[in-house]
Amino acid sequence: MEPPSPTSTLALDGTTTVPRLGFGAMQLPGRWNGPAADRAVSVAVARRAVELGALHIDTAAFYFSGGNRANEILREALHPYPAGVTIATKVGPLRDANGLMAGEAEPGQLRGLVEENLRELGVDVLDLVYLRVGRLGTDRADSLAERFAVLADLREEGLVRHLGVSNVTRAQLDEARTVAPVAAVQNQFGVLDQRDGDLVDFCATVDIAYMPFFALGGGHSPLDGDALAKVAERHGATPFQIAVAWGPARSPSIVQIPGTASLAHLEENMAAASIVLDADDLSLLAAGGRSAGA
Ligand SMILES: NC(=O)c1ccc[n+]([C@@H]2O[C@H](COP(=O)([O-])OP(=O)(O)OC[C@H]3O[C@@H](n4cnc5c(N)ncnc54)[C@H](OP(=O)(O)O)[C@@H]3O)[C@@H](O)[C@H]2O)c1
Repeated sequence: MEPPSPTSTLALDGTTTVPRLGFGAMQLPGRWNGPAADRAVSVAVARRAVELGALHIDTAAFYFSGGNRANEILREALHPYPAGVTIATKVGPLRDANGLMAGEAEPGQLRGLVEENLRELGVDVLDLVYLRVGRLGTDRADSLAERFAVLADLREEGLVRHLGVSNVTRAQLDEARTVAPVAAVQNQFGVLDQRDGDLVDFCATVDIAYMPFFALGGGHSPLDGDALAKVAERHGATPFQIAVAWGPARSPSIVQIPGTASLAHLEENMAAASIVLDADDLSLLAAGGRSAGA
């Protein structure tokens, strides 16, 4: 069977259709700890993303840099949002006015955070809201049931269409599913970091979308390596394009949300939609992009 291509779609909770190649808005305001991006360019990037078919956009109210806020940039660029555009946001992490991480929201703070996203995006209902838990790279064992139940109530009230969980273990996903339907998981996963592969596979078996973050290395790891270079050469593509195309080919559960604040990088990443990786490519990349022999 041919692997799913980046142009295919999947349906959240069997209802809301999203393309397998979307867009991550975290870079739009600028770097996490500054400097802020050129807002006019970021507005243009958001508009172009939708023109190019990235109809699923991932954002958060805690994505800001200087005076730029990701949600407000999306609103300026796209409101009223064209039919078919799905905007996913997330709540949980707290950042102070200086941008420093300030712990995790208590259950009683979550409604206010959801309302902040509604306000900033200028919508009455949020398409998809993740409960984002824990810190990157730490042991993520905390119970999330009480917090997820708050989001489930907001969904019942009609403020949210679909719920997701982010940065979770399998146990935390299982726990969330006892509280309410989980439409999507957003964890760290990409061709260079495939440690979450079991959870990706599990999501495919239960029709949960898996939206990886840092699929392009997050700007922290260089996208290089023998296998990536070899597959890129085969397709006349760049390593970034192969990293984009690899996710949907790796699993039917994966929806890519590559992030950029650059129009040129956006065009490059979206052009990966036409790349269909074959079994040889997938086996070269199976152990990560860095080892051609594995
Ligand atoms: N749930 C979570 O905990 C969590 C954590 C992090 C991110 N996220 C979400 O996941 C999305 C993706 O993550 P991310 O943006 O941090 O990482 P990413 O998509 O892995 O990579 C983005 C980085 O790669 C660069 N880049 C993108 N395309 C490129 C290209 N074609 N050539 C060269 N460089 C390129 C970007 O710089 P330029 O801007 O210069 O292109 C940026 O530094 C975010 O937008 C956010 O929505 C979620």
